[in-house]
Amino acid sequence: KASQEAEKRGWHLYLVGGAVRDLLLAENQKQVLLEDIDLVVDGFHKSADVGAGVELAKALQKIYPGVRLEVHGQFQTAALLWHKDPDLGSLWVDIATARTEFYPYPAANPEVEASSIRQDLYRRDFTINALAMRLTKPRAGELLDFFGGLLDLQSRQIRVLHANSFIEDPTRIYRAVRFAVRLNFEIEPQTESYIRYAIASGIYEQIQGRNGRAPALETRLKSELKYILQAPYWKPALQLLAHLEALRCIHPTLELDEKLWWEVRLFDRCLQKFDPQKTLEHWQMRLEVLIAYLAPEFRSKVANNLQLPVDSIERLENLDKAENNIIESLPKLQLKSEIVQFLRQYNLQTLILIAVRNSRIIRQKIWRYLTEWSHIKAHLNGNDLKALGYKPGKQFKEILDALLTATLDGKIDSRESAEAFVAE
Ligand code: CTP
Repeated sequence: KASQEAEKRGWHLYLVGGAVRDLLLAENQKQVLLEDIDLVVDGFHKSADVGAGVELAKALQKIYPGVRLEVHGQFQTAALLWHKDPDLGSLWVDIATARTEFYPYPAANPEVEASSIRQDLYRRDFTINALAMRLTKPRAGELLDFFGGLLDLQSRQIRVLHANSFIEDPTRIYRAVRFAVRLNFEIEPQTESYIRYAIASGIYEQIQGRNGRAPALETRLKSELKYILQAPYWKPALQLLAHLEALRCIHPTLELDEKLWWEVRLFDRCLQKFDPQKTLEHWQMRLEVLIAYLAPEFRSKVANNLQLPVDSIERLENLDKAENNIIESLPKLQLKSEIVQFLRQYNLQTLILIAVRNSRIIRQKIWRYLTEWSHIKAHLNGNDLKALGYKPGKQFKEILDALLTATLDGKIDSRESAEAFVAE
């Protein structure tokens, strides 16, 4: 339908980006599930048609009234959301107008059509993402491969289209790593050298907004970090980022040395254990481990720059104080009740962060607290006390606290001994 609507208006329509890549990669497999489709409209001759993508989206919405339409920017793109059946999920279709400068006398120039889709593709990140498939007649189904993307797909290479790609958009460094690990591709050597050059030329400063490009850049860096750190392949991706020294985009002093690598993996095992239902944002917690590895004075700024949520920023800001307090006090505490009382002031995330960063003696006490001691309950609760004839009031809480303390320290081991303890 989209092709027909474009053809009616004398436009070309192309499938571009990730969908073409994934379709070509999956050639030998039975089925590809596309959740996100990018289309580009091209081939118009009047400057009024610069909103062609939006017009096409509106026409499609008339044909499929159930779809949701969003228009972004003044002319450029529109997105349509189809809710497909529950098994297949939903489908986003982005429709853009080929990005090109408008030519003053385009109709006279037959090369314009080809050159505007070419220009649009030239703005993209990697050759494998710069392929297009024509959807309109004549020559529907034809693959447009201006930059050798097909060969790179076959030889499994991530290659940029030009030397400035990473300078223009440093988040592409993270995208290169993401695609390389996800697709099991290699970053082509020249491309790797462009990455190293971009990093050496001070990308952190750029991300800090000193060149007036943030915060959009920071938001994109955060979203790339999220993609990577929440993916099943986050470990090899993190290693590859470190190998390319790309963690410097987060902070120039950040390096994945042996200790941090150990911490981040141990932290992950703790998260699996304590939050199997994934109620916490695991990707964000992994990022917190990285930020916590920085010197305390840098943590807050980095967390703020990446626009982490308030609780996360506060945790990182207060980490130094909490950690010093725990290092100072915890080794001296011997009674379980004292340890429980003391550690109760910290939440799970803070405790795991501190556990993985510190000595075995600290780690073991936190571990026992989290796995066993924090779950121990007194043998009587408030309702039991009421049933025994005690009236709720100030003393009530004291009794309950005393009961818990005695239970934790092994002085009470049954309901009977709890009742005897309360009577006493
Ligand atoms: N793109 C780019 N530079 C970026 C982000 C995106 O050039 N920093 C281009 C890429 O060519 C990409 C297209 O925009 O193919 C769409 O971006 P996105 O949806 O993020 O990428 P996909 O390739 O569709 O990847 P995925 O399969 O992960 O959705």
